[in-house]
Amino acid sequence: MEKKNVLKKPSIDEMTAFCKRKGFIVRSGEIYGGLAGFWDYLFLGSELKNNLKNAWWQFHVRERDDIEGIDGAIITHPDVWKASGHVDSFSDVFVVCKKCKKPGKVDKSELGKVKCECGGEYDSSSAKEFKLMFKTEVGLKDYGYLRPETAQLIFANFKAVFDEARMKLPCGIAQMGKAFRNEIAPRNFIFRCREFEQMEIEYFIKPKEKCPYDIPDVEVLVLASGETKEKKMSLKEAHKKKIIKKDWHAYWLGQELSFFKSLGANLDNFRIRQHDREELAHYSSDCWDLEYNFPFGWKELQGIADRSDYDLKQHQKFSKTKMEVLDEETKERFIPEVICEPSLGVERALLVFLYEAYNEREKENIVLNFNPKLSPVKVGVFPLIKKEEFENIGLSIFHNLRKKWNVVYDKSGSIGRRYARQDEIGTPYCITIDGDSVDSGTVTIRNRDTTLQKKIKIEKLEETLGKLLYGELPFESLK
Ligand code: GAP
Repeated sequence: MEKKNVLKKPSIDEMTAFCKRKGFIVRSGEIYGGLAGFWDYLFLGSELKNNLKNAWWQFHVRERDDIEGIDGAIITHPDVWKASGHVDSFSDVFVVCKKCKKPGKVDKSELGKVKCECGGEYDSSSAKEFKLMFKTEVGLKDYGYLRPETAQLIFANFKAVFDEARMKLPCGIAQMGKAFRNEIAPRNFIFRCREFEQMEIEYFIKPKEKCPYDIPDVEVLVLASGETKEKKMSLKEAHKKKIIKKDWHAYWLGQELSFFKSLGANLDNFRIRQHDREELAHYSSDCWDLEYNFPFGWKELQGIADRSDYDLKQHQKFSKTKMEVLDEETKERFIPEVICEPSLGVERALLVFLYEAYNEREKENIVLNFNPKLSPVKVGVFPLIKKEEFENIGLSIFHNLRKKWNVVYDKSGSIGRRYARQDEIGTPYCITIDGDSVDSGTVTIRNRDTTLQKKIKIEKLEETLGKLLYGELPFESLK
């Protein structure tokens, strides 16, 4: 993906304003002043989010033999959350900053160690436990919880999916969808919200089973537990030097970085960070986060935890449903272990791709250089001037292409203005209908990233666009 005149990246407030101005994302209930931590995805934002989720599902579920997907309920049986430990201990510590007086949240392990974003210290006398799950009534006398993660529905359905899909270890179950947390201090646009979406995999193995897959050949900044400065190295090297102790962790970190790279992200803006001992959940022996260098600092994008057999054992105990599987060799039954749980927030990934794509071509001319798979609009169709023959050809192309993709038809304003409008929302290709279209059946196709233009026969348009959009044909190779 060619990028032009890369200037300073926008602050998070500038990005929020841009997304609102262009019709991507606005505060939910904006006309009533908004509700903190809730966001509405408009005509471009909803397309972008769907494209991201589809790309994730394609990469992690459809293109793999060892992963099946599910879609569980949002309002969930309270016993699911009793078994998982969320009812008792899914909470943060509410604190108030001595300097700016704003409320904030810290993890229990961070109490007394971290400061407010303004640099002020938190008042320890203000500290109190704050439960994060939303509880809701169900019918007349029952209740449920809005799920705070998608993971537990995977555990609760483990046996049904494993048996019915005839899965064999090592294997995974994936889910993507809404999650809800009553965050004390939602902030940084869609980075920390109260309603968000997760894309999660629970990857199960037989205890001590080795990873049969190659560790992807990816270089990244590595910050190991106890270190203060990250070092750039390949995941293979990090595993060889025992910085990443488990082969499965190195493999899954590589998979996740490859996913971001496959959609055009620059891995120089990513690092992997190992959790310190006191950060680890009680059931977890190791956890690596994928972090991104946002304008507000290095922040967690995705967690990849080793959850052992904790969750399946808990659900077996609480539900009295056997979670064991048969070892084909020894004929003994055992509970599989989750060696890795790649857990990615849709909103955080979306923010990463917005930052990766955002560039300024000339003064105040913004271009979103999205990978075409993510672009909310794939093609713009423009008759050069308002003439009936041009418009008829344009409309016929538009009606044909929109059976396959999200396409816009625009006949208003100068052609330069129409290109700029599409550049700003990341449309990779624009088609212009002119005199040659009437005389010889050709149209002009323009590439967003290079602004190069080529002539192409109308009958070849759909097939060519299909190849261009899926990266199967370089634009420059068009005659
Ligand atoms: N099942 C494991 C789990 O939920 P987590 O670290 O609490 O782990 C996983 O969450 C991911 O979900 C995070 O890395 C982040 O991308 C996303 N996430 C968590 N809380 C969020 C919030 N309040 N707003 C947006 N995304 C959030």
